[in-house]
Order: sequence, then structure tokens, then C-alpha cells
Amino acid sequence: MAETMLDLRYEPKERAYAMLHAHVIGVLSGIDDDIAAMATMSSLIHYAFRHLWTGFYRVVTPSLLRVGPYQGTVGCMEIQLGKGVCGTAAAERRSIVVPDVDRFPGHISCDARAKSEIVLPVTSRTGELIAVLDIDSEQRARFDQLDAAGLERILSWFAGVGRG
Ligand code: SME
Repeated sequence: MAETMLDLRYEPKERAYAMLHAHVIGVLSGIDDDIAAMATMSSLIHYAFRHLWTGFYRVVTPSLLRVGPYQGTVGCMEIQLGKGVCGTAAAERRSIVVPDVDRFPGHISCDARAKSEIVLPVTSRTGELIAVLDIDSEQRARFDQLDAAGLERILSWFAGVGRG
């Protein structure tokens, strides 16, 4: 079945994320597989907003993130916990909105076109940190707390919310 790809660029953010969340839950219905979910979410989020890069870095050891499913140009392979925006979000287990990547000390540049970024922790049903979601934009200040809230809701799937 051909899946419709939403174009949510011109929708108000709250409505856009409500539509995107419903779409993600629908597509993942009956699926109980984190990698399938990461791949599907990367695709749906990326194309809905036409971001520069959208994808996951997985926790592979207590001190290392490794690239997971994503959409965009080739991402950095590995990031140490505590390094860059991804490693900081993972180490501190909090969402980080970076309006200007040039002003984030230690930002890791994988694509020179990236101007702003958002990174959110992904936790499992047992509360374990399993990954971070990283989104990069060519626009400065592309992301705000509405993006963080909308994306956190989508990521709650990994903790079992709406999963079934
Ligand atoms: N900018 C990220 C690295 C990952 S790439 O943007 C895909 C960071 O500083 O952690």
C-alpha cells in the first residue's frame, strides 16, 4: 500500500504535530520493533517538514552513541556521550533546542548547511535511555518548545505510549 507523505510545512506547529503523531501511530500499528519505528519516524518527520537531516543515534555502550536509521546526507558514525548536542542531550537526558549551531560550544558539524538543531532523548518502557532523535535545519532558529513537545509525544511510542 502506498503511504501518503504529509506536507506539514505550512500548518501551525500544534496541528502539524497532532497530524504527524496520528500518522506515526497508524503506520506503526501492530509493529513492536524499535528499529522499524526509528526508520519510519525518521522518514515521516523528515518529509513532513523537509528538514535537512532527521535521524537517531543509538546508545551502544554507556559512553557511546552510534548512528541509527536516518534521512539525509551521511551522518557522523559515532558520538561520545557528553560530546556535541547529541552527546549532551544523552548525558543529561534532556531535550536541547539549538537556535544557532555556531553558538553551541562543541557542536559537531556533519553537514555545513546545518544552522539550527533539536535533539531529544528516547527512553524505553523500562525508562532506559536507548537513543536520541536529532533533527537539523538549514534555517536558523527553526525549532522551539512546540517542536520539542510535539516530538516528545511521538517519541513516547518507545516507552509504550500508543504502541499496540
Ligand atoms: N550536530 C550533532 C551531530 C550529529 S549530525 O548533526 C547528524 C551534534 O552536535 O551532536
